[in-house]
Parts: sequence; C-alpha cells; structure tokens
Amino acid sequence: MKITIIGTGFVGVVSAAVYASFGNEVVGLDVDQEKINFLKTSKVPFFEPGLEELLTSTQQDRKLTFTTSYEEAITNSDVIFIVVGTPSSADGNADLKYVFKSCESLAPYLKENAIVVVKSTVPPGTLNQVEEIINKIAKVKYFTASVPEFLKEGTAVYDTLNPDRIVIGARDDYPFQILEALHQPFNTSVIKVSPESAQMAKYSSNAYLATRITFINQIADLCEKNGANIDEVIQAIGIDKRIGKHYWYPGFGYGGSCFPKDVKELAHYSRQVGEDGNLFNKITEINENRISKLLDNYSKKIGGFEGKTVAVLGLSFKPNTNDMREAPSVRVIPYLSSVGASVRGYDPKALSVVKHFIEDDEKVTYYDSINEAVSGVDVIISLIEWSEIINFDFSSVKDVSRDQWFIDARNQFIPKKVKEWGYKYIGVGK
Ligand SMILES: NC(=O)c1ccc[n+]([C@@H]2O[C@H](COP(=O)([O-])OP(=O)(O)OC[C@H]3O[C@@H](n4cnc5c(N)ncnc54)[C@H](O)[C@@H]3O)[C@@H](O)[C@H]2O)c1
Repeated sequence: MKITIIGTGFVGVVSAAVYASFGNEVVGLDVDQEKINFLKTSKVPFFEPGLEELLTSTQQDRKLTFTTSYEEAITNSDVIFIVVGTPSSADGNADLKYVFKSCESLAPYLKENAIVVVKSTVPPGTLNQVEEIINKIAKVKYFTASVPEFLKEGTAVYDTLNPDRIVIGARDDYPFQILEALHQPFNTSVIKVSPESAQMAKYSSNAYLATRITFINQIADLCEKNGANIDEVIQAIGIDKRIGKHYWYPGFGYGGSCFPKDVKELAHYSRQVGEDGNLFNKITEINENRISKLLDNYSKKIGGFEGKTVAVLGLSFKPNTNDMREAPSVRVIPYLSSVGASVRGYDPKALSVVKHFIEDDEKVTYYDSINEAVSGVDVIISLIEWSEIINFDFSSVKDVSRDQWFIDARNQFIPKKVKEWGYKYIGVGK
C-alpha cells in the first residue's frame, strides 16, 4: 500500500519506519526542512532504541522516503496518516491548528478513495471538523478514520511492531476494510469502532494511567504519615487480580509529552460538554503541585537545600528516551537553584537537549559521568530509573567523613543497601 505520514515527529517517524518494514511504500512528510534533511540520511533527531536501525534498513530497501512537498507525498497515496502535534493551549483545550493546517495542505492532492486517518490524539468530534476543511478544497471522494497511537517512548519501536491492539474508528466499510488489511501483519486484535469511541479510548487510556499514578502517590503520602511502607501496600493490594501488581510508580508524579497534556485536554473537553466537577481537573492539580510539595518535605528532612550541592540523576521524563517534555527535572532543577543549592545534572542521553528545557543558570552544571556528578555532593536525587543509574555502585563515591543524603524519588533502591553505602536514605511513601 502507498502510505503518507504527515508529521515526522516522535510518533510519525516510528510509524513511518514500521509501516515500511511491513513492505508498504511510505513517504514521511514534514514542514521542518532541517528534520527532513536529517531523516533522509537515516539519522533520528531524538533518542529511541532500535529506531535508527529500522530507519536505515527501510530506506535501503527504498520503502521509506522523506519530503517536504505535499504534492509529492499525497498525489498517489492510498492512506494518509496525520501525526502532527496537538499541544494543549493554556486553558487545556487541544490545539488542533497543525491538524487543520495539514488538512488544508493535503486536500488539493487527494486521489479518489484515499483515506485520511487522524493518528494524532484529538478530542471526539474532530473528524467532522477535518471533513469540513477538506470538503471545501477536495474534488474527489475520500474517506476519513481515526486510528489513535498507543506507543510508549523508550519502547516505541517494539510497541509499534507489537501493539496490544489496533483501534480503528470509522463510519464506512471501506476504510475499515483497507485499514484492517494494512494492520493484518501486526498480528493483533483489531478493534473497529466509531471515530468518537476511538478518540475516547485514547484519552481514557492515558487518563487512567495518570490516575493510577496519582492514586498511588496519594496513598504513598498517607503511608509517610503513619509508618506504613508503600512497597508493602502495593504487594498486598497487587495480589487482587482486579488491581494487579503492575504499573505502580509512586514518585514525583507523571510527566512526558502525553499524560499531562491528555489529562488536561480531557478535563477541558469534560467542561465543554457540561461535566464541570470532573476527576481530570483534580488529577492535573494534584500532579502539578506534587513536585514542590515533595521538595518542600525533603527540604525539611535534610535541614534545607540552601548552600548544599545536589546531584540530580535522570533528566528525561522516563528511561530510554531523551524526551524532556514535562520531565520532573525541568521543575526540580530550577526549584533547587532558586532555594540556593548548587545543582549537578546527569543523564545518559538527554544532556544534548537540556538547554531547550532548562534555562542556563550559573548554579547548575551538567556532567557526562555519574561518578563526577555525585562525587562530594551533599544530596543525591535519583529522579529517573535509567538502568545505568540504578546499577551504579554508589559505595565507591561516598565521602565517609560527613552526612550525605540519598533521595530515591522512584523507589528503585534497597534502603538497607543505600544505608550500607553510607548515605541517609529517603524514599517515597516509606
Ligand atoms: N510522543 C508520544 O509518545 C505519543 C504517543 C501517542 C500519541 N501521541 C500523539 O501523537 C501526536 C504527535 O506527537 P509527537 O510526539 O510525534 O509530536 P512531535 O511534536 O514530536 O512531532 C510533530 C511533527 O509534526 C510536524 N508538523 C507540524 N505541522 C505540520 C504540517 N502542517 N505539516 C507537516 N508536518 C507538520 C512538526 O514539524 C513535527 O515534526 C500528538 O497528537 C500526540 O499527542 C504521542
């Protein structure tokens, strides 16, 4: 099949490479010329395990090409995926200007029976607006569909090659038939629903996971008040099959390019349709206040951050990605600096992008080795569980002559071991 992917950002590049790896002829289209030049040389402008290899092999097989020309990309395309960004505006509304702009740009070149698929995360009802825009320009019969993306950064290639399910939202048989055939090699369940259900499934999925994180954070806070241990509580509740042991991450709250944005968008959508007192407003509020709340608590425990040197380990929003969108480090580092700490930052992959997310500050220095970052500091904060960080031998750097604190912000370390290394341990919910 001939496929076009509009928007070669994070999801677009992975989708383009994966569809090409199944033998489709794929064109990746973006308005960012620099990005397209980069991708043409099989270089990926961000870190994602396995992606560069897949990009190289699919380009060598001539299954995948890149362009900035809508005419070139759309004219012969059977299926066009719109995968542009949908950031939240200040009030939480999903900003669809990139989606609508791409519809205007693709409409003149659509061929008969082409299928325009919105893969970007968009509120229910968006396909109607997409069709309104295209109808003003297109001269041919075409179809629309919504196929939301569920990949996780850090395991995006694996997730896209091995999805838990493919959700196809459409109103006509033809797009169901073509899109089901396109996804047949993925060998997974295909769920055929209305476009609104597909869009709600995407928001529900992220909102549920964000709720789960917020829930366990609240329980962790209560554990700290009464001497309970969150790990033991998770062990006990996880036995219940309705609850499960998986996906419990007590810590600094959820971040990344999707959860914060999608929960805010769902809250905004709820208000728009008259559901004012909704859960999603509250989850956003709790999550946004969480980092300063925890840092204030830690500050009390350690006698203040002022004048202390603090190593912050793990700057991306989660391991195995250099994506720092809404990463805890983006709030933690400026907070520490503002209260008078000297900060040292370390990350295995995100150092090259840090300047786009955290303003230059003479009190903040970045290191490219954990050893250098943590040597002689007063406080270590292990923020993100990169394997390099959680497997590092901290016993080799402890200055035995004075008190040093170890804040385990993701409960990844065994407290007894950290104490044996000589640090005073602080975890979450224990
Ligand atoms: N990143 C994730 O983990 C993830 C997972 C699932 C779903 N999503 C959703 O997928 C969508 C894309 O996310 P992303 O992280 O890949 O975004 P991104 O910001 O990394 O990439 C968006 C790309 O679209 C391009 N673009 C913007 N306007 C364009 C236009 N008119 N024509 C062509 N290209 C244009 C930009 O230049 C950019 O390269 C969003 O709706 C997001 O919510 C993201």
